[in-house]
Amino acid sequence: MSTTQEYIDQNKDKFVEELFDLLRIPSVSTDSSRKEEIKKAARFLVSQLNNLNLDTVKTYETPGNPIVYAEHCPHDDRPTVLIYGHYDVQPSDPEELWDTPPFEPTIKDGLIYARGASDDKGQAFTHVKAVESFVKTGQELPVNVKFILEGEEEIGSPNLVPFLEEHQELLACDMVLISDTAMFGEDQPSITYGLRGLAYMEIEVVGPNRDLHSGVYGGAVENPANVLCEIIAKLKDEDGVIQIPGFYDDVVPLTEADREAFAQLPFDEEEYKKTLNVEALHGEKGYTTLERSSARPTLDVNGIWGGYTKEGAKTVLPSKANAKVSMRLVPDQNPHKIAQLFKKHVESLAPDTVKVTVNEHHGGFASVTDLDFYGLKAGAQAFEDVYETEALFSREGGSIPIVADFKRVLGVESILMGFGLTSNAIHSPNENFSLKDFHRGIKTSARFLELLPDYAS
Ligand code: BES
Ligand code: MN
Ligand code: MN
Repeated sequence: MSTTQEYIDQNKDKFVEELFDLLRIPSVSTDSSRKEEIKKAARFLVSQLNNLNLDTVKTYETPGNPIVYAEHCPHDDRPTVLIYGHYDVQPSDPEELWDTPPFEPTIKDGLIYARGASDDKGQAFTHVKAVESFVKTGQELPVNVKFILEGEEEIGSPNLVPFLEEHQELLACDMVLISDTAMFGEDQPSITYGLRGLAYMEIEVVGPNRDLHSGVYGGAVENPANVLCEIIAKLKDEDGVIQIPGFYDDVVPLTEADREAFAQLPFDEEEYKKTLNVEALHGEKGYTTLERSSARPTLDVNGIWGGYTKEGAKTVLPSKANAKVSMRLVPDQNPHKIAQLFKKHVESLAPDTVKVTVNEHHGGFASVTDLDFYGLKAGAQAFEDVYETEALFSREGGSIPIVADFKRVLGVESILMGFGLTSNAIHSPNENFSLKDFHRGIKTSARFLELLPDYAS
């Protein structure tokens, strides 16, 4: 075994303790009252990186949350890897559904339970520790490394995109390395070569100037909640096909080879249903579950409200109703164009008895990594060396919009080397990350850096 791998074995417990210090900081980016905790998480990472004798460690302030940057580039003739991760996390609510407090990391049955354990603190931290394993064993890094750790991923990276554009030289690299996705299954490593994009919309339907008695006015005045449901019902047909004119215009169809690759993946549909406690699955006609969940566009209501929702029955006709609707996108759909098409279509479905407004939240482009890129091959080999299992290549349905920006602005591919599992419950109560995958993740990252020079030449 190499010195780095030994160092990682020997320091297993120390790494977990350090990760716990990071997980204790409630750096929730959607919550404006958490600004101090955001800063604290950034400072924690800076102090971690300051321990590594790197050439540069720096915090860039932005109009929003700080960007932590570091670099160590000792080689003229070797590749430069830009390691990206995010230290912000999703809110922890509904807090009462957590078995242990979200910001008091707890180990149970080999799993670390905490908000951010998998998404993305635990995963991002693997690379910091991998770099440490070279530095603390007196070795030079095998390649040039740059870190960019942001605090706004969960709110759409509003300040990272302009940062990329303004600092192209600083961020110049041969590839981006990201651990913020899931493996195909337990003990089954995989490299994610496709992510979906996102367009996130909000609809408001306004009717009468106040909630009305549903007996006195019902039948004579339009009900905004009914209208909202009617509009939403018209957005997809019974085959799950989205009815917004132009929605599919820019969709790159799946090729026979793509579909063949999906069919080859070891996916157990019965098991999938069982873990979700559903009798049957549902999706776009003519596509398999894996295709539907990772490579076809979707439209979903994320939240819907209006009128009376508390205990008992209150007879009212609501004065307004709202819904949040997201669309997952695939190459080459443009999120802003899709948002406009959505808005136009929803407005066209509105009767003149109500006022309908449609607003766009953050979004992003889908991405697909070139399967021939040498970095992916080095990544797959690193996985295989550590997990002793051949890595698969798969696409995932989630979104990391900055990946498309890395390609557009810096012109580089991203290697999505996720150590998470779909069972990690990211964004949900009881988020967790396996101790074993945290440990193997650090080893895989170190192995990747070691292997890369050979693949580059
Ligand atoms: N790490 C996730 C994305 C992800 C999860 C990709 C699982 C693949 C598998 C990321 O933090 C995230 O939650 N992204 C958001 C989008 C963002 C613009 C808020 C998402 O996918 O909803
Ligand atoms: Mn993430
Ligand atoms: Mn997330």
